[in-house]
Amino acid sequence: MLYKIARLILFRFKPEFIHNVIFRVLPFFKLFFPLLKPFYSFNAYANDFTINGLTFRNRLGIAAGLDKDGELIEFWDTAGFSHIEVGTVTPLPQPGNPKPRLFRLVKDKGIINRMGFNNKGAEHLRKKIVKAKKRVRKDFVIGVNIGKNKQTPLENAFEDYAKCLDTLYEAGDYFVINISSPNTEGLRELQGEKFLKNLLFEIIMKRNEIVKAKSLPEKNIFLKIAPDLTDDELKSVYEGAVYYGLNGIIATNTTITRNGLKTNIEQSGGLSGKPLKSMSDVILKKLHEYNNGKKDFILIGVGGVFNNTDFKDKMILGADLVQVYTGLIYEGFGLAKKILK
Ligand SMILES: Cc1cc2nc3c(=O)[nH]c(=O)nc-3n(C[C@H](O)[C@H](O)[C@H](O)COP(=O)(O)O)c2cc1C
Repeated sequence: MLYKIARLILFRFKPEFIHNVIFRVLPFFKLFFPLLKPFYSFNAYANDFTINGLTFRNRLGIAAGLDKDGELIEFWDTAGFSHIEVGTVTPLPQPGNPKPRLFRLVKDKGIINRMGFNNKGAEHLRKKIVKAKKRVRKDFVIGVNIGKNKQTPLENAFEDYAKCLDTLYEAGDYFVINISSPNTEGLRELQGEKFLKNLLFEIIMKRNEIVKAKSLPEKNIFLKIAPDLTDDELKSVYEGAVYYGLNGIIATNTTITRNGLKTNIEQSGGLSGKPLKSMSDVILKKLHEYNNGKKDFILIGVGGVFNNTDFKDKMILGADLVQVYTGLIYEGFGLAKKILK
């Protein structure tokens, strides 16, 4: 109710402006976050889940892209989520695409974005995670979603993923290879036959090299995919991910399709929120069928989760974990409580 009133005001301003205000102002109040706990209080330890040594205290987390630079990690812990996926981060800082690049589709409860991996770079994020880890609960999971810089050619993409792993491996709890953002030219081609297998092989070898060199545990690596893949492409991506020893797939990123929108809008970029829900559900269902109960390869469902029913849909379709982004913008930060209570 409170957020519904706040939303009336927030939605009068441009989306990126409001995002920036929140992300600049809230960090000053970090020390007071524990005082917010009564607003978000519920048993956040419900139905926990472990994959390859990493335990999530519940099944709901924040999807990549909302807190790219890890500015509010402590807040997501307070708000009851089991994990935050920071990033997408690139080795070097970059400004992203020209503004405007973020659009609300209020009638559809959706968002179109073409942010283009605007972020402060891997080293900045590493420092943020190390600091935040001292303040969050021990079991709050911090995943890191990694990508390539805009100017890095596709042929050299591996080097950027490797640099991110080198810088962030010790700090992050799990890693996500993002090859599905529609807003970095050519990136989604990495999902195709020409690049995928080599890339996955090299990334897993890189992880193993770091594990050996630094005597660190073998951390989970997931792959984040687009909802726009054909059945053949999806099968081949799934088989590649399993074959090369990844630990799971995050389905899905935003879509480049615009089917059935009520809003009359012509903006390029990725569409998220309610209009994405059924598409990402279909992909999740297919992946679950391919996976056929494999316990060591998990599925993380993302796309159009706004309430407990949407959350349950994903779990029934085979998700082990669920993430939200657009739902938070429309429903407010109390969403974890609303979904998990
Ligand atoms: C503004 C915005 C920025 C995003 N940035 C990223 C990103 O940097 N990396 C990524 O993997 N996904 C990114 N996403 C995709 C989300 O993580 C998520 O996969 C997608 O929005 C579907 O979930 P939703 O319907 O709950 O928003 C972004 C989404 C939005 C709306």
